[in-house]
Amino acid sequence: MRIYQARDYTAMSRRAANIISAQVIYKPDCVLGLATGGTPVGTYRQLVERFQKGDLSFAETRSVNLDEYLGLSPHHEQSYRYFMQTNLFDHIDIKPENTHVLNGLARNPQAECEAYNQLIRSLGGIDLQLLGMGHNGHIAFNEPGDDFGLETHLVDLTESTIQANSRFFEKIDEVPRHALSMGIKSIMQARRILMIVSGEEKADIVCKAFRGPVTRDVPASVLQLHPDVTLVGDEAALHKLVEAGELVCG
Ligand code: F6R
Repeated sequence: MRIYQARDYTAMSRRAANIISAQVIYKPDCVLGLATGGTPVGTYRQLVERFQKGDLSFAETRSVNLDEYLGLSPHHEQSYRYFMQTNLFDHIDIKPENTHVLNGLARNPQAECEAYNQLIRSLGGIDLQLLGMGHNGHIAFNEPGDDFGLETHLVDLTESTIQANSRFFEKIDEVPRHALSMGIKSIMQARRILMIVSGEEKADIVCKAFRGPVTRDVPASVLQLHPDVTLVGDEAALHKLVEAGELVCG
């Protein structure tokens, strides 16, 4: 695993955007696995800037997103499709038909998940998967205790995730209780993984995930078993890992 420590959130975002840009330049028709949440916003901003400067094109790139709330339409401001449109897709030259986000309004969630697994296979798998990490170690919506053997599946959100996500909704009752999410197996099948972490509140869980045992109690710990993981974090998120003796690059 490679670990890059960046000074702050902006530097972390720039470093992550460098890695994604390199992937797109090296293989223009690559399949990017994308994430939502607060952490990747700066990374997407950097990618948009590079596109606007003419340094990067996504004209051949395909994308698949990790997850979507069940019950939210793609036009709902808190849906992950809406997030991707407003933070990235609407500002770059990726073809709309090449962007894939699970359908939160699917009548048959099970069939939607199976079709998504099939879609990822038909695209040839994910070249680079971008990930954030929840305070409890969740990746995508794979919560502590979840089975590592699952591909895309229907998830009952935990109280802690509902609480954490309620900051984006007016009332906690509006936060969906279910989501569709790639599973740990889908994530582990990506050829390369790029995890980004920012802020002191992630410092303990980062340490548990990358220095502690591989356990279902900390879903992100499974990444220790992946052959090509890059972790990019700011000083606040990585300092405990550094103090624990993990080797990091500047
Ligand atoms: C988002 C996702 C989530 C987030 C995680 C961290 O698509 O799958 O697992 O990556 O909740 O969220 P932030 O970045 O807001 O701390």
